[in-house]
Amino acid sequence: MRRIITYGTFDLLHYGHINLLKRAKELGDYLIVALSTDEFNWYSKQKKCYFSYEKRKQLLESVRYVDLVIPEEKWEQKVSDVQLYKVDIFVMGDDWVGKFDCLKKYCDVVYLERTPEISSSQIKHDLAGAESEAKLI
Ligand code: CTP
Repeated sequence: MRRIITYGTFDLLHYGHINLLKRAKELGDYLIVALSTDEFNWYSKQKKCYFSYEKRKQLLESVRYVDLVIPEEKWEQKVSDVQLYKVDIFVMGDDWVGKFDCLKKYCDVVYLERTPEISSSQIKHDLAGAESEAKLI
């Protein structure tokens, strides 16, 4: 059984996220997603989520590639997660390339190519723009 772990916010779940999760799962048998809590997003990543942690968790749990969702509450939890869940491969999108190479002491580290032209921030930005345009009409 090869276990994979990945981390992220996964707000407004979109096809870039699904592509990442699908390719992560294809690397092994059991995919764990460490999902950033609302507090961690706000205080450590300066991100405000549209969907709450519980809603984002529920969405991820309904994705066929995801086997387990755990909370990400601090940057430093990765080594203990890898050990606790006996993780073989740590996966992130290539916007994080090189950032987690220190985990190579504990497991394989793989950066997957991001799907171009889509992100949660972009969706929020585009919808905000569309709303202001609509107000002008
Ligand atoms: N991801 C991806 N392709 C995209 C968007 C995200 O492969 N187009 C990956 C990221 O690299 C990360 C995971 O999905 O490994 C979760 O990313 P997250 O930061 O939650 O998603 P974004 O859409 O990038 O959100 P934001 O714009 O808020 O950063």
